Amino acid sequence: MPDMRVNKGKLQLKNPIMTASGTYGYNLEYEDFTDLTTLGAIVTKAITLEPRNGNPWQRIIETDCGMVNSIGLENVGIERFLKEKLPVLIKRKIDFAVNIAGSTLDEYTTLAKKCEDNSIKIIELNVSCPNVQHGCLEFGVDENTLGSLVKSVRSVFSGCLIVKLTPNVTSIEKLGLACQAAGADAVSAINTLKGTGIKLTFENGKFKKEQVTGGYSGRGIKPAALSAVMRLSKVLNIPIIGMGGIYSLNDVFEFFAAGADAVQIGTANFTHPDIAGKIVSELYSFMENNGFNTLDELKGALRNE
Ligand SMILES: Cc1cc2nc3c(=O)[nH]c(=O)nc-3n(C[C@H](O)[C@H](O)[C@H](O)COP(=O)(O)O)c2cc1C
Repeated sequence: MPDMRVNKGKLQLKNPIMTASGTYGYNLEYEDFTDLTTLGAIVTKAITLEPRNGNPWQRIIETDCGMVNSIGLENVGIERFLKEKLPVLIKRKIDFAVNIAGSTLDEYTTLAKKCEDNSIKIIELNVSCPNVQHGCLEFGVDENTLGSLVKSVRSVFSGCLIVKLTPNVTSIEKLGLACQAAGADAVSAINTLKGTGIKLTFENGKFKKEQVTGGYSGRGIKPAALSAVMRLSKVLNIPIIGMGGIYSLNDVFEFFAAGADAVQIGTANFTHPDIAGKIVSELYSFMENNGFNTLDELKGALRNE
């Protein structure tokens, strides 16, 4: 029986296949397509202190190789999450991480403390949010700001602390190192790339334009994501969770080869809602049929090729 467990410090998962924040709802949205208890972990949509309505329509546009979204962190807020969504996850024995987002260091720290008080085992910090106290520059683009944020969250949260890195920086390595130094247990990469999708049609002598500016995700970003994971793996000792354009087991192998310890599936869920569960069984069968007893053996083989 292949052992698919991820066992890297505080990052303990029954297998390395997770789903990415914002693409999988809060708890049971995908239950009709996949047995959620088979997944390494689902990551909730970003949760903020207060409920948010998000941005007005149009906030999604399909592009040639993915999509651009500008959802604007629509979510029910932490109190409703704790009251309505969390008990369901626990009752159904679904492994999960809570993705949290804030606009000040205090907001993140308060959210993390609430997670600690509710015995949540894994949180993922979405640091691609504007810091309203510092010129609205994103938390994730400056090493010092990011280091202080991780340190503060670390001081109140004892579980597995994952920091989700943005690729929209000059050196993702420096940001990863700042997270590691401040006490993060893992980093995940990448969040969406900055992008604009434009769709033009010409009707009755006039152009009609649809346009969304926000985060670019999906198949087209895989090379950028692999590059980020590879660069991080060269400098970090903490585990790396890779994501960006994963649509198949082969894509997962590419992320392992680049240095990822686990992966998250995002945009693919929208068109292939059963994909995460399918990849878990494909991984199991591949390991069983090809004599890989542990994930480390498989990763070792992928990295030596
Ligand atoms: C519609 C949508 C909403 C997202 N919302 C969040 C979010 O709330 N928090 C977060 O950390 N990342 C969010 N992301 C980023 C994804 O979790 C993931 O990092 C990114 O899409 C890259 O992976 P993919 O190419 O497999 O989608 C969102 C992505 C999409 C497409």
